[in-house]
Amino acid sequence: MNVTKVNLETVCGITSKLPENDKMEVAFAGKSNVGKSSLINALMNRKSYARTSQQPGKTQTINFYNINDALYFVDLPGYGYAKISKEMKVKWGKMIENYLKKTKQLRILFLLVDIRHEPGQNDVDMYNWSVNYGYNPIIIATKSDKISKGQLLKHTTMIRKKLNCIEGTPIIPFSALNKSGRDEIWEYIEDMMEF
Ligand code: GTP
Ligand code: MG
Repeated sequence: MNVTKVNLETVCGITSKLPENDKMEVAFAGKSNVGKSSLINALMNRKSYARTSQQPGKTQTINFYNINDALYFVDLPGYGYAKISKEMKVKWGKMIENYLKKTKQLRILFLLVDIRHEPGQNDVDMYNWSVNYGYNPIIIATKSDKISKGQLLKHTTMIRKKLNCIEGTPIIPFSALNKSGRDEIWEYIEDMMEF
């Protein structure tokens, strides 16, 4: 899709009411610092419209980006960031859970994991939890520029095993640096838009 118009339309904090959008939503979940906001920028062809940071815990709200008045990208706060208080962790977890439970427009849930590492318990929990809620997350293995091409399959296989993915689940290596994987991710989104 040729993205001509983006707008950060709604920002939801812990107490905000979620928007009742009438267009399809595509959400991005994953550990803090895994690259959710960077991926959203790459998909939008914008350098830094979604705020990113080397410090984990950058995105602390649920951000709805209106894309071409045709769909929404939903940037979720990252989980698993050790440095925030237990109380905040619980609140953010509830926020993500509340969104996934209540939204009526979510058509694709992308779950991002770092391609270099075996997914952690919180990734496994997030995956299982979303499956129990009826989602079938597509996995994006981020920061693929950090490993060699020859290692890609080994790493995606490790991720598939650890998450115990439903058969047929795509695992897409992606790099925000060289944009590899971006077109494939757009294909999944565009396929869903045709329904
Ligand atoms: P939170 O908002 O804290 O949950 O993090 P996030 O998942 O939105 O991560 P963000 O996009 O802010 O990226 C975190 C850091 O990882 C930044 O320093 C990015 O530049 C870096 N990063 C993201 N994607 C890639 C990638 O594909 N390759 C490399 N090498 N670095 C990346
Ligand atoms: Mg972010």
